[in-house]
Amino acid sequence: MRILLIGSNGQLGKSIIEKKPHNINIIKTSKEKFNLLDHKKCRSEIINLKPDWVVNCGAYTNVDRAENDKEKAIKINGESLKYISEGLLETGGKLIHISTDYVFDGKSKIPYKPTEKPIPLNVYGYSKVIGENHVIDILGDINKGFIIRTSWLMSPFGSNFVSKILKLMNSQNEIKVVNDQFSCPTTCKSLSDLCWKFILYDLQNIKFLDDGQSIYHFCDDGITNWYEFSQTIRNYALELGLIKNPAIIKPISSAEYRAVAKRPKYSLLDCRETIDKFELDTIDWRINLRNLLNSFSTSSDNFTN
Ligand SMILES: NC(=O)c1ccc[n+]([C@@H]2O[C@H](COP(=O)([O-])OP(=O)(O)OC[C@H]3O[C@@H](n4cnc5c(N)ncnc54)[C@H](OP(=O)(O)O)[C@@H]3O)[C@@H](O)[C@H]2O)c1
Repeated sequence: MRILLIGSNGQLGKSIIEKKPHNINIIKTSKEKFNLLDHKKCRSEIINLKPDWVVNCGAYTNVDRAENDKEKAIKINGESLKYISEGLLETGGKLIHISTDYVFDGKSKIPYKPTEKPIPLNVYGYSKVIGENHVIDILGDINKGFIIRTSWLMSPFGSNFVSKILKLMNSQNEIKVVNDQFSCPTTCKSLSDLCWKFILYDLQNIKFLDDGQSIYHFCDDGITNWYEFSQTIRNYALELGLIKNPAIIKPISSAEYRAVAKRPKYSLLDCRETIDKFELDTIDWRINLRNLLNSFSTSSDNFTN
């Protein structure tokens, strides 16, 4: 079984590598070797390498910057998926493509089901919808393209909300964090476990992936807003001795914060179908956050770098 991992230097890519089962070969690719802007090469590389699975963790992930860099974001997050999917259509390989809760407009009052129509509010979400549609159009009908939408990823790797808040708390007296956007923080570790389950079930010839479902929702358990998330980081970091004299955190509305990109007010994903199908035991985000912070002191890639 050969897996081509796109975006292996990102936080999810690194977590997937860390959780790799023994009997699997990963072909790791970085932006230098497999650039999602070089569409024809993406297709020809897949045809040359003939991976059994492609796991696409590569993306243009800076939500605010994407607003003024629309063409590039669409090329990377959207159009590249046409060429990746076409390559796999030719070779017979399968795809796990990671997408986002930001495909929704946040007007719902209940968690979003995978069947809900995406209405993105920002360029990043729009570009991800384009990518999803290519996967569904080209690989959906033949049960070879799987989209996992997730939310608010955190890990010991790279830059994410947890590492940013820890850095800010160490360097400022007061920080302001929005309190009117709700979703669920998710560890790359638990998302990686799900990605590997797709591949291992396939390896064991379990036919459950043949039921026509292309879109899956996955996040950790619970719901919060960015302000409460940051306060919880602060409390655990103090308790674990990761920080001393941290900044005060104050709640602020999205309107006051004035980010470049609009974000959904509520984008919690309904993960019921995924949990049932894969018999997952999801864990509350607070428990996963505490475990993550606990690992920060031993990680080589932590918030002090
Ligand atoms: N982060 C979140 O909160 C979040 C939430 C929901 C969904 N997602 C989705 O989850 C997936 C993984 O996100 P992440 O947090 O792991 O992102 P990340 O840490 O920003 O990693 C993204 C990866 O994509 C690579 N990349 C960027 N441009 C590329 C290009 N032109 N060609 C090839 N690779 C390119 C980056 O390479 P360099 O490091 O060399 O730039 C990096 O390795 C993405 O699809 C993202 O949309 C993320």
